[in-house]
Amino acid sequence: MSDVLERAAPGFRPKVAVILGSGLGGFVEEVTAVATIPYADLPGFPQPTVGGHAGRLVLGHVGPTPVAVLQGRAHYYERGRADEMKGAIDAMARLGCETLLQTNAAGSLRLDMPPGSVMAISDHINFGGINPLFGVGPGDSRFVDMVDAYDPALRTKLMEAARAANVVCHEGVYIFFSGPSFETPAEIRAARVLGADAVGMSTAPETILARHAGLKVAALSLMTNYAAGLVPGALGHDQTLAVAAAAADKVRLVLRTFLEGCA
Ligand code: HPA
Repeated sequence: MSDVLERAAPGFRPKVAVILGSGLGGFVEEVTAVATIPYADLPGFPQPTVGGHAGRLVLGHVGPTPVAVLQGRAHYYERGRADEMKGAIDAMARLGCETLLQTNAAGSLRLDMPPGSVMAISDHINFGGINPLFGVGPGDSRFVDMVDAYDPALRTKLMEAARAANVVCHEGVYIFFSGPSFETPAEIRAARVLGADAVGMSTAPETILARHAGLKVAALSLMTNYAAGLVPGALGHDQTLAVAAAAADKVRLVLRTFLEGCA
């Protein structure tokens, strides 16, 4: 794998790895690319099966900052494997990345965060009953500390970037459900009691993997809908993609401002 990357972009050392979530892949237009490599050419990288996830790695610069942008992720629900993203995240750490910046589409549990809002993740609740480090070991490295898993200093920088970009950015707790079915209204009521502000089917496994690989993590959620039962009506992935497309520019601006400051 490192051979493929070395051949595609000799000597390139990204500082930040970025995972682009559902409908947010357009951010790659902000990257002055050095190389674009399909996941299919990268051993250990997953083949995404979900609309809105292209499956390409873009190496390049955002302003002065060298970045590795993962255009699309694979989720636990796609193949029932919790460690779908382990190969990709470990590769980013080996390549020299210090930070993983994640984005995702999420459902909002708060009426003051309507669809189109963005939220910096302060912590997560892994409600999926799975862990991407199942089977890793032997040894103690699998007992990963999850206090401040979402780096407080990076989160401050993310909030500052949002302010500079004139984007209102909330902060809150993300709860991971396995999917692929959406949650029931009863599950969402339970999630609210547990302290969640947003719900989604990704990000938490990748954060665990990133902390295991020694990367700092920052994460931004884009609310694409109110979570099940908060308002009348049904949920669907088409809505996720449509709202993500409509609000993508906002997310793009925050990411660009944040990354430009990471050099
Ligand atoms: N639930 C889970 N995942 C999601 C949602 C949701 O309501 N919206 C976007 N991704």
